[in-house]
Amino acid sequence: MFAVNDLKVLISRDQIAYRVAAMGAEITRDFAGESIIFVGVLKGAAIFLGDLARHVDLDATFDFIGVSSYGNRPTPSQELQHGWDSTGEVRLTKDVDQSMRDKNVILVEDILDTGLTLTYLKSILLAHKPKALRIATLLDKPSRRKKPIQADYVGFSIPDEFVVGYGLDYAERYRNLPDICVVPRG
Ligand code: IMP
Ligand code: MG
Repeated sequence: MFAVNDLKVLISRDQIAYRVAAMGAEITRDFAGESIIFVGVLKGAAIFLGDLARHVDLDATFDFIGVSSYGNRPTPSQELQHGWDSTGEVRLTKDVDQSMRDKNVILVEDILDTGLTLTYLKSILLAHKPKALRIATLLDKPSRRKKPIQADYVGFSIPDEFVVGYGLDYAERYRNLPDICVVPRG
C-alpha cells in the first residue's frame, strides 16, 4: 500500500467535475427527445456514472455489468509494473438485468486501456440489438491499445501511467479518492 501522500494528483476533482458536466451536456444534446440506459462497468465506473448521469437531462435508467479476466491476472505489484496486461479472455460476472433491444445504451467505463474489456462488452451488448450503443469512458490510454476500439465520449486522454481515485483502484483500494492520482512505479 502507499501513503496517500505519495500519490501525485494528475487530474483534480475540479477538472473532473468540469469535464464530466460537459460530457453530460454532450450526451443530452446527442439523444435529445430520446430515452437512454446507462450501463456501468463494475466497479470502477460507479462513481463516474453517478456524476455523469446527474448532468444528463433525459429520461434515463441505470444498469450494471461485471467482468473479470481469466487466469494470468497479475498481482497488484505486477499490474503496476506492466499495466493491465490481461490475456484477452474476459468473463462476465454479472449480466445486465434487462433486454437492451431497441434501446439507446451508453456503456460507461472508468478507463479504456488495452481495449480488451470494452471490445468484449461491446459485442455482448450489440447482440441485444440496441437502437444505439455508445461508449463513455472517463479516461483513455490510447498508447496501450491492443484492440482497435474507440470511445464516443472521452473525459481525458492520459499517458501510460497507473492511476487511482474517482472509482479507479489499486488492489481494490483508493476508489474513494476524489482526485485522479498517479501511483509511483516503485
Ligand atoms: P482494458 O481491457 O485493458 O481496456 O482494461 C480496462 C480495465 O483495466 C479498467 O476497467 C480498469 O479496471 C483496469 N485498468 C487499466 N488501467 C488502469 C489504471 O491505470 N488504474 C486502474 N485500473 C486500470
Ligand atoms: Mg475496471
